[in-house]
Amino acid sequence: MKHTNIAVIGLGYVGLPLAVALARHFPTTGFDISQERIAELHRGFDRTDEVEPARLRASTLKLSATPADIAGAAIYIVTVPTPVSDDNEPDLGPVMSACGTVGRLMAKGAVVVFESTVYPGVTENICGPELERLSGLKCGVDFFLGYSPERINPGDREHTVERITKVVAGQTPEVTELLAKVYGSVTTGGVFCAASIRVAEAAKVIENSQRDINIAFINEITMIFEKLGISIYDVLDASATKWNFLNFKPGLVGGHCIGVDPFYLARCAQDNGHHPEIILAGRRINDAMGPWVAERVAAQLPPQSRILMLGLTFKENVPDLRNSKVVDVIRALRQMGHSVEVHDPFADSDEARHEYAETLTPSLDGATGFDCIIGAVPHAPYLAFTEESFTTLVRPGGLVADVKGMWRGMDVPDALRLWRL
Ligand SMILES: NC(=O)c1ccc[n+]([C@@H]2O[C@H](COP(=O)([O-])OP(=O)(O)OC[C@H]3O[C@@H](n4cnc5c(N)ncnc54)[C@H](O)[C@@H]3O)[C@@H](O)[C@H]2O)c1
Repeated sequence: MKHTNIAVIGLGYVGLPLAVALARHFPTTGFDISQERIAELHRGFDRTDEVEPARLRASTLKLSATPADIAGAAIYIVTVPTPVSDDNEPDLGPVMSACGTVGRLMAKGAVVVFESTVYPGVTENICGPELERLSGLKCGVDFFLGYSPERINPGDREHTVERITKVVAGQTPEVTELLAKVYGSVTTGGVFCAASIRVAEAAKVIENSQRDINIAFINEITMIFEKLGISIYDVLDASATKWNFLNFKPGLVGGHCIGVDPFYLARCAQDNGHHPEIILAGRRINDAMGPWVAERVAAQLPPQSRILMLGLTFKENVPDLRNSKVVDVIRALRQMGHSVEVHDPFADSDEARHEYAETLTPSLDGATGFDCIIGAVPHAPYLAFTEESFTTLVRPGGLVADVKGMWRGMDVPDALRLWRL
């Protein structure tokens, strides 16, 4: 068992921490199509900030961008992205490309496990046949499938791959048992053997869809209460005192998972003859939140205001810019004729330029006299703002807009106006 060779395909937020954890117990090779990513990791630098340089350098994980280096592994674990297209359709391109790599290289007896978030049926009905086609091997006879959803969360140091309960499912009871042993040696959180691969796929996609729908409900009532002049945060403080109230917060739902995975579930529903109501309504409401915030803030501002946006990443204290909805707020404000500068202490400026054509303001030193600052992402340095920070950044009579309720406990100087949800 301890000599089981493992190859992890796709070394991003999910793949790298998993590969490093597996390498402590098994001979493990991490493969990524990005040569740049492999070169950075060789230097001990993880741009996702999930694995510290010392741990990366000390790891026995082999790193490669050469497919031949993962030939003949006993277990392949696929952790490549599963985005949506511009019209919100699942894009299985990276998963298919990973199947191509594995299918051409795997030997008889291999187990191919998918961790990428998909909808029920993708592993067995789409990936299995593709692997068969490319390998010339028979699925369920010469090689076997498995699925194990990933639950980690960028920037979350508590729910790491070594601590969370891992759901596993294999094509046969023997494969499930093998996966339970492999993942069980990595996590102290235990392993749950799901009833089938389709069940494991379904479990993951509903975990994220459930979050999206719950946030959509809070976003909708935020919009209603704003019309009534009631702060959602004041309402949530009161409601949260009930034992079974679900304490979700309003927000811009971005990132690679919560705002994307419901579209996978919706596609699966439609393909099976069911029109999903609540899943797509949740997506519509959450995607409308950025333009709505922009309108509400703009209603407080004179034309052609000079605005400073604080935060661009999709969540706090991480460099992850994928699918950031702060961009929707920025674009809507610019369309209304305002000028918007953007600051983010964690985002990579090259990535911001490449992904969104945004030039980040490198530092807040010397930043002053704005008509408005918008607290969009509760990064730690923004939480540490003092009254003086506001006075420096905002001109007298200007606006402090607090989208995330991050400055609720603070007094905004009398000379300034405050807007918050
Ligand atoms: N980020 C999260 O917190 C999280 C949590 C749970 C589940 N997931 C799911 O896990 C999967 C991976 O997400 P991620 O956040 O790690 O993505 P990511 O974008 O951070 O990393 C993906 C990596 O895969 C590489 N890659 C792309 N195509 C490849 C191919 N054909 N062969 C080899 N490498 C390839 C990319 O270069 C990149 O380094 C997705 O399905 C996602 O929905 C992500």
